[in-house]
Order: sequence, then C-alpha cells, then structure tokens
Amino acid sequence: MKHFITTTDWSQNELQNMIDEANAFKSGMQSNALHNKSVALLFFNPSLRTRTSFELGCWQLGGHAVVLEPGKSAWPLEFKFGEEMNGLAEEHVIEAAQVLSRYCDLIAIRAFPKFENWDEDKQDNVINAFAKYASVPVINMETITHPCQELAHMMAIQEQLSQVNKTHQKNKKYLLTWTYHPKPLNTAVANSSLLIASKFGMDITLLCPNESYLLDEKYLSLSKQNAEESGGSLQVSHDIASAYEGADIVYAKSWGALPYFGQWEAEKSIRDQYKHFIVDEEKMALTNDGLFSHCLPLRRNVKATDAVMDSNYCFAIDEAENRLHVQKAVMSQLITQ
Ligand code: CP
Repeated sequence: MKHFITTTDWSQNELQNMIDEANAFKSGMQSNALHNKSVALLFFNPSLRTRTSFELGCWQLGGHAVVLEPGKSAWPLEFKFGEEMNGLAEEHVIEAAQVLSRYCDLIAIRAFPKFENWDEDKQDNVINAFAKYASVPVINMETITHPCQELAHMMAIQEQLSQVNKTHQKNKKYLLTWTYHPKPLNTAVANSSLLIASKFGMDITLLCPNESYLLDEKYLSLSKQNAEESGGSLQVSHDIASAYEGADIVYAKSWGALPYFGQWEAEKSIRDQYKHFIVDEEKMALTNDGLFSHCLPLRRNVKATDAVMDSNYCFAIDEAENRLHVQKAVMSQLITQ
C-alpha cells in the first residue's frame, strides 16, 4: 500500500500520470472512483483551497469527506510514545489512526510545524505516525512539504508553457524567490517547489536574502539528486537582478530562517531588512517574458504587487484550480492501487 506523503516516493512518470489524469478531469472526465467510499480530512491548521478542493473532489468522485479539526471539533491528539498523557491530549494517534481506518478508505492530514524546534518539526512526526498506524493510504495536505501543491504547480506550468509554444518544462529557467512576510512561514511549499521543478528537469535558481534563508539540507540534496537524474540543475543566488535575468517561471514564497527556528524575535529584525524582495514589475521585466505564480494565500503588496498579481502572466488562480483536479487523480489512484 502506497501513501502520498512526498513526491520523493514517486517517479517522474508516475507523477506525470497523475497530472495526465488531472488534465482529463479538468476536461470533464467523470468518475465514480470513490463510490461508497469515505475520506477523513484532518486539519490541524487553517485552509481555504485545500479543504474546499478535497471536500468537493471527494464528492465529485462519488465519495464522502469527513472533516476533523483535532483540538477543536475532534479530541486533541498525542504523538509522543511511552509517556503519561497528562497534558491536553485526550487520545493517542495509535488509536485515532486505527479507528479512522475502520471507518474511512483514505486519511488526509494537514499538520504544519510547531515553529519551536526544527530538529523535531523536520521529522514530520504527525503524518508519519498516521502512516504507521493507519491501514489505509495517507495523503499529505501540507506538513513540511506540500505534494498536492507540487502537482497542481507542475500541471499549471505545463499548461502555460504549451500556451506560449514552449512545449516542455525541461531546462526552462525556474526561479524560486524568497519574499518578505511579517510572520515566519512554513518552508513546505518552498521545499516542494524545488522537489517538483528538479524532478521535471528544470534549471532552478533558489533566490534568498542570505545563507540563513537556505532551505533544509535534506531538500537541497534531494533536489540536486533529482536534477542529476532529470537533466536539470540547481543553483543558489542572493543577487536579485541576476537571479531574475532570463527566468521563464518565477515562483514566490516566504519562509522563516531555519537557524533562528524558535527564536523568531531575533529573526524578525533580519527579515525586516528584506522587504525589497517583493515581486514587482521591475523585477519581472528582467525575465524572459516570464510567468509568475504563488501557491496562495498571498498578501498583496507585501509578497507581490497588485500589478504582478493582476497581470496576464500570473497563473496563481489556474494553479489553485488545478488543486481540485490533481487531488481527484491522487485519491482515484490511491483507492485503486
Ligand atoms: N495553497 C494552499 O494550500 O492553500 P490553503 O492553505 O488555503 O489550503
């Protein structure tokens, strides 16, 4: 039984197969793949796109989604093992995962880092514990990576490049730029951006203010390995102008500096120096008639200007729509494996 926790577990061909099926759904293909089936959607954190697209996708496939918010509408859960449960948690993941597996055919999890200790958070303990104790496939709805966003992003890139007669994403210049945000955000989408662009052979530049804003070594290494296998490349830059020069795709995301994890007051004074990383028309003019996207939600005129968001080269809304189609493909494939 295979889970969809990270795209690292899936080959480029398998991922392309999911994107192809998503394209068929987008073109109107009907399916009852989830007829008489149910999906548990566990949200430890808020969502607009993920919750809506999973609930609707499940319904469109003939299934039923049960949304649970542990700690709010469901019991708070414990993920430490062998300890006296004297804290807030009323139930252990060991029981919760087994019980949900008796009711539901798939379990999907959104569990962001706690933002206190990266060495702990990077273990991805919540989703890995569910995968260990569940007897049904588990889907990642964003933890320290965001694989559903990856598929929606690559599907949108392929759509956009074929529209402008650039037939394939391979060796197109892909810029992942850090952007400012008043809060330290999750690195999940940034990790995922590198994973999927490298898997599909793009020439990636990771632009961030300085070495403190580099992503975790695990994802840099995995992306380099992907690039070696796919014929792509990965380089790091701290220079805005040269990084934007000639880019075909610009993807923006903000994240907190990992060396300051848990010491966010100290990090904020550094982060506040880099508000000029905002994506604006001046920077986009340096690109190769480049396209722009963001996973959303996005703070306008903080991460990207109104002009960029409202431009005809911004495909963020198409990417968001694709979440619905790719998740239907993921659920269909996991249920029939
Ligand atoms: N991109 C994304 O996952 O959006 P939500 O946080 O609204 O689900």
